[in-house]
Amino acid sequence: MNHIWFASHNTHKIQELESLLNPMGWNIRGIGEAGLQDEIDETGLDLKENARIKAEFAFARLKETCISDDSGLEVDALNGRPGVHSARFAGQPPDSTKNINLLLDNMQGQVNRRAQLRTIICLMWANTAYFFEGSVAGQITLEPRGAGGFGYDPIFMPNGYHETFAEMPSELKNSMSHRARAVRQLIDFLKANKSKIILNSLK
Ligand code: IMP
Repeated sequence: MNHIWFASHNTHKIQELESLLNPMGWNIRGIGEAGLQDEIDETGLDLKENARIKAEFAFARLKETCISDDSGLEVDALNGRPGVHSARFAGQPPDSTKNINLLLDNMQGQVNRRAQLRTIICLMWANTAYFFEGSVAGQITLEPRGAGGFGYDPIFMPNGYHETFAEMPSELKNSMSHRARAVRQLIDFLKANKSKIILNSLK
């Protein structure tokens, strides 16, 4: 099966992407499997820059087609924060429980609880970067609910649902998530360029 390197060490994300791309015949392999264990410095000023930094890091070392993603939670009442700082909102090392607690503290008394999760995927193919974006709109709950997913899932309730991402079956989250939407665009691109793209097993 063709594989695409994914510049991430987050096993949740690797699994999510694998479940989305595997039915298309593409196998997603984290760069850790290729011996790249380094944490990549996310020094970009926005999601797109960070996605590019991660994909270029992997491409420079593996010289094979690879993807990366950078995601963030953008809360209206906080002027789009934590955004690009979502992973380290409550400081280093990244800690989802601390991030959630800090976010809920910042949202105390806020009536406007609108937010979106947004992802940019970067595909590095033959030395060129291609970008794909997806977002999902929702509300920040008053307290954490559910044990599934990761990151801000326990406090993110997508519009039209009464469950948070952490309360839903992963299949349901994966059918509507910001990442799923960005991946759909990536899939369209991969399909449209199938004859041209050199996927890794063909090398
Ligand atoms: P990353 O840079 O793409 O790994 O994402 C940055 C941070 O955004 C993560 O550490 C999470 O806190 C948050 N995040 C990304 N994707 C999700 C998601 O699907 N659900 C909830 N939080 C997420």
